[in-house]
Amino acid sequence: MDASEIARLKALMEWEGRRTAPPRGFPTLLDMPAARYTSPEYYALEKERVFRRSWLFAGHIDEVPEPGCWMRWHNAGDPIVIVHGMDGVVRAFYNTCRHRGAPVVTEDFGKSSRLMCGYHNWTYKTDGTLVGVPERQDFPPDFDMSCRGLIPVRCERLGNVIFVNFDDEAMPLKEWMGPLWDEWAEFAFDRIRLAARHSFDLQCNWKVAMEANMEVYHVPFIHPETVAPLVDPKRNLNTMYPNGHARMLAPPPRTTDREHVRAIDSPPGWKQIESVGELGRTCTQSYTLFPNWVSPLSNYFVPPLVFWPTSLTTTRLELVTMALDWGDEPAPDLWTVPDDTQPGGRQMSPIILEDTQFGEAIQKSMESAAFKSVPLSYQEARIYSFHQSLDRMIGVDDVPEELRVEQVIGEEWTWPNEPRDALLSEEAEASRDAAE
Ligand code: FES
Ligand SMILES: [Fe+2]
Repeated sequence: MDASEIARLKALMEWEGRRTAPPRGFPTLLDMPAARYTSPEYYALEKERVFRRSWLFAGHIDEVPEPGCWMRWHNAGDPIVIVHGMDGVVRAFYNTCRHRGAPVVTEDFGKSSRLMCGYHNWTYKTDGTLVGVPERQDFPPDFDMSCRGLIPVRCERLGNVIFVNFDDEAMPLKEWMGPLWDEWAEFAFDRIRLAARHSFDLQCNWKVAMEANMEVYHVPFIHPETVAPLVDPKRNLNTMYPNGHARMLAPPPRTTDREHVRAIDSPPGWKQIESVGELGRTCTQSYTLFPNWVSPLSNYFVPPLVFWPTSLTTTRLELVTMALDWGDEPAPDLWTVPDDTQPGGRQMSPIILEDTQFGEAIQKSMESAAFKSVPLSYQEARIYSFHQSLDRMIGVDDVPEELRVEQVIGEEWTWPNEPRDALLSEEAEASRDAAE
């Protein structure tokens, strides 16, 4: 990010801190229908139209580091195997044998130059080609092995991070990410290693869990000791991007004691990503990568929280920490701590416990007659924009009217458009006039 962009964003954060109402021209966010969190019909649309069409975080190259390495992955439902091919290319396939559907690999991780189904030993190359069928002569003479390879799933990488997409027609990952592709360049995705990856089951709809990480309105109330010293919610600047992505950017409160920030934010022994610029070093910035990844990005970590719907009312939360190689130090793990009740076990860190504490109760409330609709403030606009994107991904006309959100946040409030720039200049002009 260049110096003028940094200066512009700093000025906008200060402007957010001074404003006394939502910015002029910002649309009124209409109540969102409550049933978006409880309707089986809406959930089915999300699964089919959003999770089958979006780029999804699948893993890190450290999990399949060498040619021949493979890993199972089933966070999106279907059984998938991610394979580091003998030719160096990382691919994803349904872990489904083309003979009678047995799983081709049955361990979570492994390494082999061929993938062999254990049922009748059909054998595939690491590029998915079927190359071995025992008793081949007993199949019809025109049995064409070349069209019975493993069924591929789109698989692309952002540096070391592996994404998959079930939609053969989907745009490439780079295009999907849009401006984030370049904005994230300073976080060294091609050098960060996988330090920790854990998952926990939550008793609430995936959006309930995720939205706790998509606004800073809650920070002073549920994170008074943990996040509040690092983030000034008043000076938070939200930016919406195309395809449903978004960013929050906020400086620490003016009252924060620098030593306190350093103690939380600059842990000894962890290597800094030198290429990270001023905002990543001095502010908290967190990105939503639509649909289910939220990650603060800083000069120490790329630590995504990834939210997987496992049913209408349950979620698997993945807590991932990626960082530069930590050498002989213990691997950093931003989101989990040792669980004293089980040897080697991990539990969610205090911040994550704070964020997830209400999930189950919220879900229960949402299923009661008392939960009518969701009013959102300007500060919570990232949540509204996320819901607009869900509906757009599903196809607005295919969302039953009683479940739909109105598409009120338009392109004029989406990157690269920034109406707040004009409001800021207007303010500067007015104060110049007043001084004259
Ligand atoms: S099901 Fe895989 S070889 Fe028969
Ligand atoms: Fe939070």
